[in-house]
Amino acid sequence: MPETPDTNADIWKSAEGISSWMSTADDRERRRAEQRRLLADLLQFDDGETFTFADLGAGTGAAARSVLDRYPGASAILADYSPQMMAEGKKALAPYQGRYRYVEFDLAHSEWPAEMPARLAATISSLSVHHLPDERKQQLFAEIRSRLAPGGWYLNYDAVAADDPAVEAVWQRANDRRDPASAHKRAHRTPEEQRRYENHVRYIIPLDRQIGFLRAAGFEAVDVFWKELDYVIYGGRRPVTGT
Ligand SMILES: C[S@@+](CC[C@H](N)C(=O)[O-])C[C@H]1O[C@@H](n2cnc3c(N)ncnc32)[C@H](O)[C@@H]1O
Repeated sequence: MPETPDTNADIWKSAEGISSWMSTADDRERRRAEQRRLLADLLQFDDGETFTFADLGAGTGAAARSVLDRYPGASAILADYSPQMMAEGKKALAPYQGRYRYVEFDLAHSEWPAEMPARLAATISSLSVHHLPDERKQQLFAEIRSRLAPGGWYLNYDAVAADDPAVEAVWQRANDRRDPASAHKRAHRTPEEQRRYENHVRYIIPLDRQIGFLRAAGFEAVDVFWKELDYVIYGGRRPVTGT
């Protein structure tokens, strides 16, 4: 992990950071459409069921929208700490008026805002947990579990690191073949781009450890439901019985 201060919040709360994220959003979402659908399909609900779920670090709601599309009776609570992302999200979520609300929540801290219900039917997160230090990942998983209804699922779509440099090299080779410009971009980062990159990857850890955190937080039926190179969907449910 770099010794430099964590600039995650500065990036997500800046006009420049958001405009850079938004400029590539359509292309990214096209490539992720299948994973978005899978995450929604993995949830435990019947097609017409009415329920409320949370999307933590929701950004513009790309993951939440897939659940709202899949289940017409679903309502979303989108938690994020970036006013800029939430403003962009309100545009993207216009067709879902009345089925969602944003809640300001800094996931780095344990104080869940009062607007978050004490019980959630399901919780999802997408590309946000990797921004948290390990200790906070572990606490957050326990907090998510304690707020889920018995039998409720938590699913996380996120990036993982390789423990083995040889594996990392394979992931990079395959990714570069799919996007031949990425090797060039990597070799020609400006110092600012390099700082951002290092900040971005500082808390990304191997999959096994994340799965261990989930089990230690008391989830059951834990699995990696999808994986491709450095991206995964994993999750588990709060046991139906017990505390
Ligand atoms: C890479 S974007 C992903 C957005 C969305 N979940 C998606 O899949 O497109 C990361 C999101 O996490 C949010 N985020 C990062 N750190 C956070 C924190 N400590 N508390 C709340 N939100 C955070 C950012 O504001 C941003 O909206």
